[in-house]
Amino acid sequence: MNDIIKKIKSGVALSYEELDNIFSGYLNNKVSDDDMTVILKLICKYGLSDKEVFDLVDIFINSGDVFDVNYDFIDKHSTGGVGDKTTLIVLPILASLGVNISKMSGRALGYTGGTIDKLNSIGVKTDLSKDEFYKCIDNIGMVISSQTDNLCPMDKKVYALRDVTGTTKSIPLIATSIMSKKIASGAGKILLDVKVGKGALVNNLSDARKLANLMIRIGKKYKREVVCIISDMNNPLGDNVGNKIEILEVIDILKNGKRNDLSHLCTIMASIMLEMSKGIYYETAKEMVLDSLNKGLAYDKFCLFVKHQGGNLDIKLPKCKKIVSQKSGYVKSINSMMIGNYSNLLGAGRVKKDDEIDYNAGIILKTGINSYVRKGDVLAEIYGNTEKVTDISDAFRISKFKSKKSEIIIEIIR
Ligand code: URA
Repeated sequence: MNDIIKKIKSGVALSYEELDNIFSGYLNNKVSDDDMTVILKLICKYGLSDKEVFDLVDIFINSGDVFDVNYDFIDKHSTGGVGDKTTLIVLPILASLGVNISKMSGRALGYTGGTIDKLNSIGVKTDLSKDEFYKCIDNIGMVISSQTDNLCPMDKKVYALRDVTGTTKSIPLIATSIMSKKIASGAGKILLDVKVGKGALVNNLSDARKLANLMIRIGKKYKREVVCIISDMNNPLGDNVGNKIEILEVIDILKNGKRNDLSHLCTIMASIMLEMSKGIYYETAKEMVLDSLNKGLAYDKFCLFVKHQGGNLDIKLPKCKKIVSQKSGYVKSINSMMIGNYSNLLGAGRVKKDDEIDYNAGIILKTGINSYVRKGDVLAEIYGNTEKVTDISDAFRISKFKSKKSEIIIEIIR
């Protein structure tokens, strides 16, 4: 271990065998949490070369089941954000347009929410057998399930350690984690949403570009078509943060015609994915996506999917507490990391790995960037443990002047 540490510190690249010894050793309990933490911290500090990242991706992929590549299979992945419910909107749009789509999603970790918890909150079964998984695709053209235990088990173990050791923000480690899972699952085409800003793992645009380009290079090596969207995560995505509460916003967009940053991002994501999977022009794809949204086709598909996987869309929220503004002015920003942390403390997420989630808990924002609020106006409704979280108004910056609102989509890299 000392030799390895010396090598990383002096910028000498590790060989495949050295990386394999460390990471496979960790998976097989031969390398301790403490030693692995030292290695992860060094990687965060000193980085890895492309060759080391490619080797590590290969080691992660081969730690579990590997599905044959299917060039018709399109998948998406986000680097994680607050209020990110894009999977629940994009998948029904695509399925309503004849693209068979399956996705293995994760649970919430840290202050970012997880698709699986959101679905479980309305009774959708996500722990599916192989048979059930394929039946969903055959019957309704879409399925969302939890990741199987044997897909990149090395990522599962290393990610859980990264989460509690402050080593989540390393670009080579994020790229390895995401791309190994996508490649092992057999996706031939992959759309990645790299979030940048206060509530994201990556806080500045230059790092977001580095991460996006690294993941595209990994994709190329495995002959996968990868497109990256870089999107803003300074403010929460949409208005609702939580579990059941986020499903309500999905319904608002798919059924009730609500249009905001979230619906815009989903429209662009679905259009790119449709373009990639059908080989049609982007503009044609976008027209089809808007048509599906406006005619309620995506909503019908979402209802079918929820029913097919045992869920129930009859959602009722308990009593909430209203948070009011302490002063008048324009809403300059809403700190997404603070909103994510408050939502967790209200009970919507896990503070520790095995915490129970209160599915009713969360936050509904009642104002947006550059809206004018008067002292006493409602900024947000909070649900859940409102004795523990009594106020969240410090997440809102109210100013005399309007701010320059950043675009939700910053860049698309192909
Ligand atoms: N999502 C992942 O799957 N892995 C990371 O490291 C970050 C986001």
